[in-house]
Amino acid sequence: MCGIIGYVGERKCINILLDGLKALEYRGYDSSGIAYNENNEIKIIKSTGKVQELENKIDKNLPSYIGIGHTRWATHGIPNEINAHPHHQGKTTLVHNGIIENYVELKKELSSYYNFKSETDTEVAAALIDYLAKNNSKLEALKKAMTKIIGSYALAIIFDDEPETIYAIRKDSPMIIAQKNNDSFVASDIAAILKYTNEYYILNEGEIAKLTKEKLTIFNNNLQEITKDLKIYQGNINDIMKNGFDHFMLKEIYDETSVYQNIINTYFPNYDIKELINNFPNLSKYEKIKIIGCGSAYHAGMVAKSTLEDFANIETTVEMASEYRYKKIFPNSKELVILISQSGETADTLEALRIAKKNNIDTLAIVNVNSSSIARESDMVIYCLAGCEIAVATTKAYLAQVLILSLITLTISYNKKIITNEEANKYLFNIKNLISDTKKILDNKEEYQKLASKIYKNNCMFFIGREIDYAICMEASLKMKEISYIHSEAYPAGELKHGTISLIEENTPVIGIITQEEIAQKTISNLKETKARGSKIIIITTQNIYDKYLNDHFYEEIIIIKDINILLQSLVTVTPLQLLSYYVAKLRGEDIDKPRNLAKSVTVE
Ligand code: G6P
Repeated sequence: MCGIIGYVGERKCINILLDGLKALEYRGYDSSGIAYNENNEIKIIKSTGKVQELENKIDKNLPSYIGIGHTRWATHGIPNEINAHPHHQGKTTLVHNGIIENYVELKKELSSYYNFKSETDTEVAAALIDYLAKNNSKLEALKKAMTKIIGSYALAIIFDDEPETIYAIRKDSPMIIAQKNNDSFVASDIAAILKYTNEYYILNEGEIAKLTKEKLTIFNNNLQEITKDLKIYQGNINDIMKNGFDHFMLKEIYDETSVYQNIINTYFPNYDIKELINNFPNLSKYEKIKIIGCGSAYHAGMVAKSTLEDFANIETTVEMASEYRYKKIFPNSKELVILISQSGETADTLEALRIAKKNNIDTLAIVNVNSSSIARESDMVIYCLAGCEIAVATTKAYLAQVLILSLITLTISYNKKIITNEEANKYLFNIKNLISDTKKILDNKEEYQKLASKIYKNNCMFFIGREIDYAICMEASLKMKEISYIHSEAYPAGELKHGTISLIEENTPVIGIITQEEIAQKTISNLKETKARGSKIIIITTQNIYDKYLNDHFYEEIIIIKDINILLQSLVTVTPLQLLSYYVAKLRGEDIDKPRNLAKSVTVE
């Protein structure tokens, strides 16, 4: 989604702003712009398309030492230069992430004082702040603006009559601030400034940040100066570099083994269940679990539903955050709500968390980004430790979510005495093998390239499976459609014949996922039903199932993965499917890391 970078300091700012915007490109955007102070005059340059197009319009050596920049993911108004940020009204120039919900009313109130050129809600915020700053100090004006604006916002603001200062405020959209060696920064995430510093502060709701070359000051809601805890980003610059890979997505798939290793090192370095129990919250008292997330995080929950129910004997439901927030809630002190989010900032998931808390339901967040809003506001948190993920399509962070959920399942099962100490330790030790099994998959990329070459020209495909395999299909299908733009659907294998099978034509790829022996033959029968209608069948299955049930070669291609165990099988099944989507998208020549219309972190409803 939109990204913000602001800089004031001793260095020329244009390159710093452009670097920051490029580092934010991964969030998804369709236009960009910067505002900078040149000889005490605020100038604005904008462009549609890539940041490179903005860069082509600017002299990078301009003598400007303060500026704000933005990548816009269109919400109100089409992606054109007029709607691109920064927006300027009166003496106020600003960039904005989020959505101002009452902008129509505010626009009406302000329309006798200002002409509005764009269709955006942001331009209204600029006018509002400008109007309030006419008769108030800048701090007072921002404080008043925060009481008037309804919705979500992270704003970085420069005033014509204070052109050496950047102000920042936020609500429900993240913002960090930093200062190092006479360089002050404001940004929507750490990636934008990591080249210069890994030390930052989190700006909270209701606070105002004031950045000058020498000083970073933060004020609370009463406009008193406050001090904050310094945060240190634990990852490193390699997280935001491609390291020789063609795309971040591929690099991040290859990172998966080190993510598993990080999880082992942090939570159970000696493969001892007691260590894991000490490092994870105790969830024994809960009789029900509800998992909430969006996109791939929701799919991770769908995988975990099967394992939590089958392996830990705990009733589990899974909800999309955007649905949960408008449903009737039945508060239950024996229920735990688990929120899953890579970014920890997804607006719907954050709101679902707040609703659960308002209903006195205990909450546990499984989050990748440290100190993100969801991590901070949940009662308990477990970090995924996947490192910074840049590609819009999540890969390593999704698998980290699934692994953390499997570990939760293991701890519940152990605490309920469903499994013994010895059995639990064996499961943990198997995660070591998961690393070598995943490495083998990654070493075999030619297999997925070959497979991709057989299906990349199709414009429609299906992924079918049952139970946990269906949950894997959902993620595999999302990955395929989001980066390759092939229309792809995940279907429970047994349900296909109730309507959807009418879409199967000669050569339609149907990818069957079969990893559970008990129901393998059922899915095989459903695949054969599609074969009878001309489909091109590809199967992903385990060695054991292959040996027992798949010797009649009715399929076009087969990928055989290792049998592991119910807790880890999905992890080793998903990596090949991620590689398959990647190579299909690559053959189709798509912009893999930044698929059209998508955003990495969806901070609007
Ligand atoms: C976006 C991303 C998806 C992601 C979803 C949830 O739609 O493109 O890859 O799964 O948001 O994001 P979260 O950060 O909450 O996991």
